[in-house]
This record gives sequence, structure tokens and C-alpha cells, in this order.
Amino acid sequence: MNIAMIGTGYVGLVSGVCFAEFGFQVTCVDKDPEIVERLSREETTIFEPGLELLLSRNVRESRLTFTTDIAEAVGSADVVFIAVGTPSRRGGGEADLSYIMAAADEIAAVMQPGQVIAIKSTVEVGTNEVVRDRIRAARPGVPFSMVSNPEFLREGSAIEDFMRPDRVVIGAEDDHGREIMRRVYRPLFLRDTPMVSTTLANAELIKYASNAFLAVKVSFINQIADLCEKVGGDVQDVARAMGMDGRIGAKFLHPGPGFGGSCFPKDTRALASIGRKRGARQLLVEAAENLNEARKLDMAERILTQLRAEGGDTVAILGVAFKPNTDDIREAPSLTIIGKLIEAGVKVKAHDPEAMEAARKLLPGVDWCRSAWDAVSGAHVTVLVTEWNAYRALDLRRVSALMAGTTMIDMRNVYSPAEIAGTGLSYHSIGRASIQG
Ligand code: UDX
Repeated sequence: MNIAMIGTGYVGLVSGVCFAEFGFQVTCVDKDPEIVERLSREETTIFEPGLELLLSRNVRESRLTFTTDIAEAVGSADVVFIAVGTPSRRGGGEADLSYIMAAADEIAAVMQPGQVIAIKSTVEVGTNEVVRDRIRAARPGVPFSMVSNPEFLREGSAIEDFMRPDRVVIGAEDDHGREIMRRVYRPLFLRDTPMVSTTLANAELIKYASNAFLAVKVSFINQIADLCEKVGGDVQDVARAMGMDGRIGAKFLHPGPGFGGSCFPKDTRALASIGRKRGARQLLVEAAENLNEARKLDMAERILTQLRAEGGDTVAILGVAFKPNTDDIREAPSLTIIGKLIEAGVKVKAHDPEAMEAARKLLPGVDWCRSAWDAVSGAHVTVLVTEWNAYRALDLRRVSALMAGTTMIDMRNVYSPAEIAGTGLSYHSIGRASIQG
């Protein structure tokens, strides 16, 4: 089985490496010669736990190659995956499909009869059919199978998610397409992973509906957290007990500064936009999107309120990635929060174990620190924005001693009130009572 993977961004690279690990021959294509060169010498282009090992093993064992030449990759492939980006279009919420269309045109020019063309990128409902028709028009009479195969990889645990998915979704129009996909994912089906065999449109919808539902879930618990703060509740207890109800489920019930990343914000916007366009407005999704934007600003306000109470001017930010175990800062709540602080004239000192290089370019006014200790030194308010493991067991007495002020805002509820006692910190978290040190 030969696989061509068009696009070596997040989804393409992880999927390509994992298919090679299954034992298939995989050729990954990227337009950028520098990326191809780096990956060919086994250097990862993204930070993802476990990726480096699988990349070097499969490159060394010659199952995985990288090229800029799409014809070379597609020529011998049984299945050609399209895994290029679908960023939000400027202004509107719709996904920009120009990379998908460009890839489709290039594949059409070099494809062989009988190949399967599978879209992995998250695309608007109807896109698979548009791509199919476009390829058909470019190469009339050349038979191929169109497949929609959305991915559900979380950054930071993408390899694990690929190797142990809850389900594999295959939207196909013919048996050949379905059969080839069954073979491609055979190692997973041997472990009883369910395969959802459905239509192209349903596969597209499943991806958007899943991500939007999770985003709504996060926004829901964030709103309950707000209510807990007003009525003296504790959202940790509320969420834990809610999660024990199997119908609700315990996952994605952690309140925080709002969801970020390359998928939730983009996919909620896209689904809301599709709903408006097609006359079935997705009001819950629109609400989640609006609440999330407002939440990030509210988080900045909370910090400014505490800073004023301290009478100080310096804030330490711990964690800027949109979540732990990634160097990705796309749509991270930290960007809005820090932006607002800088706008208000606050001195911001920040640290992140992996994301500082990316953040430096977007947030030039920040004093980037070598360690969490450097960041908190001299700060009037310390804010834990991303729950990296490295911030989960800080010596809080030391934090307190190094700070110029005494306020800590824990936006991920990493610490418990018992851990705060005796540290001298005034502690504010999400959906729980504050503790005055
Ligand atoms: C998501 C989906 O989970 C994945 O299936 C899809 O393929 C891509 O998008 P990812 O963006 O990597 O994955 O991150 P995820 O772990 O889902 O978190 C998204 C955001 O929600 C993060 O900012 C995270 O901090 C936030 N979140 C998540 C919460 O605030 N609370 C939660 O309980 C869960």
C-alpha cells in the first residue's frame, strides 16, 4: 500500500508518520523546500510528544519520504490524502478552501486511474463533492474514488489519538473507496476501533458537529463557573458530579480562560457561518463563539482589577500556548489577555516551556523570561494561563517570596485551597471562592 500525503502541517505530518509506522510506504509533499529538507533529515517542524521518534524511525527504515514533487508522490499511490490548511477567511467565518482547490488541481493533473483521493482537512459541507466534480472535469473518463476522512487529533496527544481513536469516520461513494480506506486503517480495526461508514456530506458534518459540541461544552462550564463565583459555589465539585453522569461525560468540563487553538475557534466560526448561509442558524454555536471572545477580555479585566488593588504595574504570565504540550499559540487566550494588558500600560513578564519563540513575534512588548521563577520575580500579580505540568507543583512560598505583590490568579484551577494556605498569596481561581492570604 502506497500513500501520498499532500501537506505536512499538523494533520498531514502526524498522519503521514503514523501511516508509515503502520508499515505502509508514505510520501509526504510540501511546497516549502526548507520544510521538506528538515523533515528528510529527521528534524521535526512542530512540537508534538512522540513525533520525533516515529519520524526518525520511519525515515531511517525508508518507509517515509518527503518531497516537493507532487507527481512523484501521487504517481505510485493507492490513496492520496489532502491535508492542507483551511484557515478562516478574513472578515467572514468561512474556511478558506483555496489550498484545497489548488491541491485538487495539482493531483488531477498527475493522478492515475483507480486512485482514492481522501480529504483529511476540515472542510465546509459540500466541499468533497465540489472537489470530486472539479477533478472529474479536469480528467474526464479517469475513474477515481472520492473519500472524506476527517481527523480528530488533539495537539499534544496527536500520536496517541491517531493510534487509539474513538472511531474512524469514512465518507465514501463507492465500495472501492471504502475498501482501500479499510485497508489503510486495518491496524486500528484489528483492535476493534469502530469504523463509521457514511456519505461524504455526513463525514464533513460529523467533524464540525463534534468540534462545535465540545466548544459549546467548554463554554457551558465556563458560564456555570461564573455563576458559581456569584453564588458561592465550587465549579470543581459541580463539574465532577456532572461528569459522572454517563450521558454528560467527564471530559471537556474544565473551566478556564476560554478555548483556543487551530480548531475550535475556526470550526465554530465556520459551522455558524454555514448555518447562516444555509438557513439553519446554529445559535448555540454562535453563542459559544461570542461567549468565548467575551471571556478572554473578561480575563484581562480580572487581572487589571487585581493589579489596581495591588497598586502595582507588573504581571507575570505562566503559559502562553493555547494548551499544554504544544508550542502552538494560534488563537490562544493568552494573546488577547496579554494584548489587553500591554494596551493598558502593564509590564508583562511571561514564560512558557515551548511556545515563547512563536509568541515573541506576535507579542513584542513582553519581557520573555527563562523560567517561571524569573517571570514571577518582581510581579504584583501572577497569572497561570496554561496548565503545563511544570506549573502544577510550584513552590508557592517561593513564588510569594519572589513577587512584589501577593496576588495569584489561577485560570486553570491547578491548585487547591489547601495548597494555598500559609503561602502568603491571595488566590483567585475560576468558579471558586477567592482566598485572601
Ligand atoms: C481539538 C479537538 O479536540 C480535536 O478532536 C480536533 O481534531 C482538533 O481540535 P485541540 O485543538 O488540539 O483539539 O485541543 P483540545 O484539547 O480539544 O482543546 C481545545 C481548547 O479548549 C484548548 O484551548 C483547551 O484549553 C480548551 N479546553 C478544553 C478547556 O478550556 N476546557 C476543557 O475542558 C477542554
